[in-house]
Amino acid sequence: MKTNSLPDFGINWKFLLGDEKNAQFVNFNDHSWKNVNLPHDWIISQSYSRGPLEGWTPQNMQGFFAWEGVCWYRKEFEINDLHEKTVYIYFNAAYRNSAVYINGKKAGGRAYGYSSFQIDITEFVIDGKNLIAVRLDNGCEPPDRWYSGSGLIGNVSLKIVPQPHIKTWGVQITFSNEQLMINNKFADVNISTEIFSKNKTVKGFICIKILDKEKKCIVKCETPFDFKGKDEIKTTQTLRLDKPLLWSAETPNLYYAEISLTIDGKEADSYELPFGIRSVDIAYKKGMTVNGEKIKLKGVCLHHDSGITGAAFYSEVWRRRLLVLKSIGCNAIRTSHNPAQSGFLDLCDELGFYVIDECFDKWKSGYYASHFDTDAQPDLTDFVLRDRNHPCVIMWSIGNEVEEQGTDGMIDIQKKLIDIVKRLDSRPVTCALSPHANPRSLVNAPVYELVKLTEKLAKDVDVLGLNYHEPLYQAYTDGIEKPIVGTECYEYYSSVGTNFEDVCDKNPWQFVLENENVIGQFIWAGIDYLGESSWPAKGWAGSILDICGFMKPNAYFRKSIWSSEPFVYIAFYDQSKKNDYTRGRWSFPPLTSHLNHENLHRRNAKTFIFTNCEEAELFINEKRLGKRKRNDFNNGIIEWNFEYNSGKIEVKGLNKGKEICNYILQTADGAKIINLIPDKTKLKPFEVAHIEINITDKNGILCQTEEYLIEFSLKGDAILLGACSSDLNQNTGFTANKIITSEGKALAMIKAGSSFANIELCAYSEKLENAKLIIHVN
Ligand code: GAL
Repeated sequence: MKTNSLPDFGINWKFLLGDEKNAQFVNFNDHSWKNVNLPHDWIISQSYSRGPLEGWTPQNMQGFFAWEGVCWYRKEFEINDLHEKTVYIYFNAAYRNSAVYINGKKAGGRAYGYSSFQIDITEFVIDGKNLIAVRLDNGCEPPDRWYSGSGLIGNVSLKIVPQPHIKTWGVQITFSNEQLMINNKFADVNISTEIFSKNKTVKGFICIKILDKEKKCIVKCETPFDFKGKDEIKTTQTLRLDKPLLWSAETPNLYYAEISLTIDGKEADSYELPFGIRSVDIAYKKGMTVNGEKIKLKGVCLHHDSGITGAAFYSEVWRRRLLVLKSIGCNAIRTSHNPAQSGFLDLCDELGFYVIDECFDKWKSGYYASHFDTDAQPDLTDFVLRDRNHPCVIMWSIGNEVEEQGTDGMIDIQKKLIDIVKRLDSRPVTCALSPHANPRSLVNAPVYELVKLTEKLAKDVDVLGLNYHEPLYQAYTDGIEKPIVGTECYEYYSSVGTNFEDVCDKNPWQFVLENENVIGQFIWAGIDYLGESSWPAKGWAGSILDICGFMKPNAYFRKSIWSSEPFVYIAFYDQSKKNDYTRGRWSFPPLTSHLNHENLHRRNAKTFIFTNCEEAELFINEKRLGKRKRNDFNNGIIEWNFEYNSGKIEVKGLNKGKEICNYILQTADGAKIINLIPDKTKLKPFEVAHIEINITDKNGILCQTEEYLIEFSLKGDAILLGACSSDLNQNTGFTANKIITSEGKALAMIKAGSSFANIELCAYSEKLENAKLIIHVN
């Protein structure tokens, strides 16, 4: 989004972990504080401690990091020529309980660390040098049920705007769903703009241009405005776009609205935001259509942390992760259970994902309880105002497995929150409910009792959001006139009857395919995340991608049911696989995909072939074992047991009897080489790069069975953000200059500094050849 904010406000901040009296004052001496650039999460570089307590404690929930504490950020900035200007400071996310001081005076703050917020600081700033100080308090009460991180985890921007100016989040772009559904020849795009001015007599023109993806203007209009003594006005323009290129997850076509205000022929303020035109229809027993096409949401739930960078939001990190999800056929994300950063939604707009945008986890229990009464309304309002122009957002969610389901109090709160959303936007609202588990008295109850409770719960939502319990989709469909979305499901198992703790291996996705009324499903979880773990695991490892963003063998199962891009893959059922401490029902049977199985020598191997082809054909050391049809197997997973042999396995994917893809496994020799594979070989200043580390033998075959300690050194104007592997049990941390590989792989990240110079990354390990990588910054 283009606004007139000062560039690079995120660099050169001072940081202190700890509390200091008077740190808000201009003459406070912060020389000994650390220099940091934003975004910044201070917890990710802390040490671990198991803590004295067993069970679910804040320690487990926060991944055993030292999470408690107060911290401060300070930055000096210079602004000039403030005459008649308004100055705003905008926080993408400040985790949490922020107090913002400008030149020593408190200007505002926010408790909920995921909310974006803006403060008008005009009365606090002066022409010349100014100081911003931010105090965050992460110690006042236990944080979320997952790793939250703490700090200025999103960027901060300073906006200096003239009179009049366009209000932040004051633009709303809408079009008629019905018009688009009956007519795809044109779209009437309604753009309403709220304009603010301290000069209440000002008049001028608002000019709106719609630009195509090459930023060429395709239609524009100009309308006069007149404040007539008010300080806020709203104008609405409708622009007709002929033959619009519609937005969907498959074709994420974006347009840009460029809005400018002119006074006496001179531009006063301008604003540009991307938008997409699409019709989404979700109806009882009809399912979901996007631009008239039937679709199912192939979704994953995601938490906001990203391993090495903790909770600090980097667009490049999420681009890389989302592209992997896209490659396996995922088309939807649930931002569980808190507002995502807007940069994340920008990526979903651009890359094409349908998003259930979720604002809260619990309401009146857990971390949010202490400020629910005062803050739920502003937090939810700002969340909708900020996100409502994103084409990716197809539904709002106001909570997850909230407490006291079915009581009048809960239904009351739900209604109030829904009403807040409905006043601001017309998209459907859901709440991720768990009637099968809450209240516990209904576990094993007759189905009709669950349907009765759920009907009551669903009264005010547009779409019935159900966590788990797929076998009840049909009973709910029969008894409750609402479309259903599986807001959460296990990735492999389904529950049985009305007991969610009892599972079978019919995959939850099959219930989606069998029921027209179910618009899709979201796996818990798409990517491993920090926290919600049992020692020694520092995070949840039951997802389809590991914390590095690498595909696990089970990700290929998902690809086999979600993607149409032909592929085939083979994995071994491997009980020697290291325990990742995921809770049983959420896991996948243990799989590895290599041919160095010491424990299988001269034994029968159980293998799974994942493919979206009709048949798979297997060859062991060039000897053909035969063909098997995907449709003959449960969940489409071809099982094949054979006597294990090292050497070479080739599996071919066949359609109509013809080979269209293959996958080869070869036994690796001794590990020899550290391969450093960057995602970019050229960076711009302050950009980040991911470096994939693969340990291979001399022929380039991945060596998955040994672990290697790799140490890094970096030359040039850059920092090593850290390194991680898929093994969340390790204790090297995420920000150290070393990592122990897991299954032959690891990931490192670097961030360029401000200068244009080469960066050199070297990797060393005792038993392996050293490796070197050069990255250019220009
Ligand atoms: C769900 C919950 C998620 C996560 C998951 C795994 O019930 O909604 O936030 O906790 O269980 O334990």
